[in-house]
Amino acid sequence: PKVRHYKFNVVMKNFTRLCESKAMVTIDGKFPGPTLYAREDDTVHVRVLNNVPYNITIHWHGIRQLRTGWSDGPAYITQCPIQTGESYIYTFNVTGQRGTLLWHAHITWLRATVHGAIVILPKHGVPYPFPKPDHEKIIVLGEWWKSDVDAVMNQWVQTGLPPNVSDAHTINGYPGPVPNCTASIGYTLHVEPGKTYLLRIINAALNEELFFKIAKHWFTVVEVDACYVKPFKTDTIYIAPGQTTNALLTADQEPGKYLMAISPFMDTIVAIDNQTATSTVQYKATDDYISTTLTTLPATNATPVTNSFIESLRSLNSAKYPALVPLKIDHSLLFVAGVGVNNCSSCASGSRVVAGINNVTFVMPDTALLQAHYYNISGVFTTDFPGNPVTPYNYTGNNSLTIIQTTNGTKVYPLAYNSTVQVVMQGNAIIAPESHPIHLHGFNFFVVGKGIGNFDPVNDPKKFNLVDPVERNTLNIPTAGWTAIRFRADNPGVWFLHCHLEVHTTWGLKMAFLVENGKGPNESIIPPPKDLPTC
Ligand code: C2O
Repeated sequence: PKVRHYKFNVVMKNFTRLCESKAMVTIDGKFPGPTLYAREDDTVHVRVLNNVPYNITIHWHGIRQLRTGWSDGPAYITQCPIQTGESYIYTFNVTGQRGTLLWHAHITWLRATVHGAIVILPKHGVPYPFPKPDHEKIIVLGEWWKSDVDAVMNQWVQTGLPPNVSDAHTINGYPGPVPNCTASIGYTLHVEPGKTYLLRIINAALNEELFFKIAKHWFTVVEVDACYVKPFKTDTIYIAPGQTTNALLTADQEPGKYLMAISPFMDTIVAIDNQTATSTVQYKATDDYISTTLTTLPATNATPVTNSFIESLRSLNSAKYPALVPLKIDHSLLFVAGVGVNNCSSCASGSRVVAGINNVTFVMPDTALLQAHYYNISGVFTTDFPGNPVTPYNYTGNNSLTIIQTTNGTKVYPLAYNSTVQVVMQGNAIIAPESHPIHLHGFNFFVVGKGIGNFDPVNDPKKFNLVDPVERNTLNIPTAGWTAIRFRADNPGVWFLHCHLEVHTTWGLKMAFLVENGKGPNESIIPPPKDLPTC
C-alpha cells in the first residue's frame, strides 16, 4: 500500500453556463473538481487550503473512516469548519474498499459546486470480478443554479418556504445545448467500435434523483456505492444524490453519434428542475455530419422504473466478496422520515417547511459532536434520539398536520461497539409521498427489504433477503414506503445519517449515531490530529 498526497486549493472561479457568469467556490478552479485516485488499502492525505470567503469542510462520501472520524468531514458533526485562510489535512485509509465514490463539501449548500470523483482501484494483481473493460470513464452528474447557492438556501431560512429549484442539470459540468443560448454539446464520450467502457457514474446533484440513458445502448451494472453487485442489464440507470454506479458500456452499435441524457425523477411533482441535460457518445472516425440518435427518457414520475432498478441490485456474495449480513439484531429501530409543516410565529407565512425523523428536527450544534463526545463536553447533544416513533400513526395515510409537528433537538442514538443494528426507514406522506435517498456515514449497510405502505413488523421481516442483499452507503426510501437496512456498529465515533436531498437535510431530516469505543486495542477513536479546526 502507498501513501498518496493530494492538495485541494479552495478558490473562487468564474464559470459561464446558461449564458450567464458567476463566481463560485471550486477546488483548484475546476467544476467538477479533481478526481482522487487511490488503491485498496492505501493511505490518503488531502491538504485542504481555504482561500475563499466561506467556511468549508470536505466529506469523503462512502469512505468508511474506520476510527478516523476526524477526517469524515460533515461540519459540526465530526469537525469544525476550516475557516478562510486556514488549512486542514484529512488522513484516512481505504482499507478493504475499492470502487467509485465521491467527495463533496459538507457545509451549507457548497457541494453544488464543490464535488468530484473518488476512484479506488483494486489491489495490484486483483482483477475486477467482471470482464476487464478496455477503458474507464468518469461521469459526474450535477445541477446548476444561475444564482449563488447560498442565496438559494437562505430563501428557506428567511421565508420558511421551499427555495428555488436549479436552472439546469449537468453532465461532467455541462448542460448540453440550451435553446436561445448555446449549441455547444459540452461533454462528448468518444468510443471505438467493439470496445467496452467502464462508466463510473456519480450523482453529485443537490436535490434531484436522476435517470441516465444512452440512445440504443444497454448497460451492465456491476457495482453500486463501491460494492460489487451481480451483473445485470438495463437500458436506464436510476441514481440518487450521493449514489455511485459502475456500468459497462459496449460500443456495439452502428458507428455514429448517440445522445447521452439525464432527466429528473420525482414521484410526486412538488418542485423540480425538469430540464434534461444532454451530451453525446460519439464513435471514433464518425464525421460530424451524422445526426445524433435520440433517446426517450422515463417520465418524471416513473416510479416503477426506479423500483425495478433497485430490485435488480444484489450483492455478489461470492467466496471472495461475501455478504456478511448481521443475522442477530441488538437494536431494532423504526425511523419515520419526511417533510412537514411547523407553526412558525417569526415567519411571514406563519408556518415553516420542516423535516424530521421520529418527529425530531435535528438542530446543528455550534461545536462538533465528535469533539464534544471525545472531550466529554456537556450540553452539546443529548443521547435520547427516539429509536421508534413516539406516537405511532398511519405513516403513509392521510394525517392531520398536527401529528408531525416536530420538536427541535440535537439528539444522537447511542450504540455499543460491535452491536448489530436494523433500521427500517419509513417514509411518511404528510405533505406528499416522496422518495428519499438516505446516506449513513461511517458504514456500509445491507438493504434487506423494502415495501410500499406501512412497515409490518410481524410479516415483512419474514420476506427479508439475508443472503445476497445489496451493500451500499445510500439507500432509497421508496415513495410512500419503507426500506430496511442492517449493519454492524464496528466503527467508534459519531456518524451522520441524513437525506441526501440537500433541501431536506437543511429542513432537518438528519440525526447521528454515537458508537462507543470498544474494549480491545484497536477499537477506539484515534486521537484527533493537531491541525483539527476549532469552532
Ligand atoms: Cu454525501 Cu453527509 O453526505
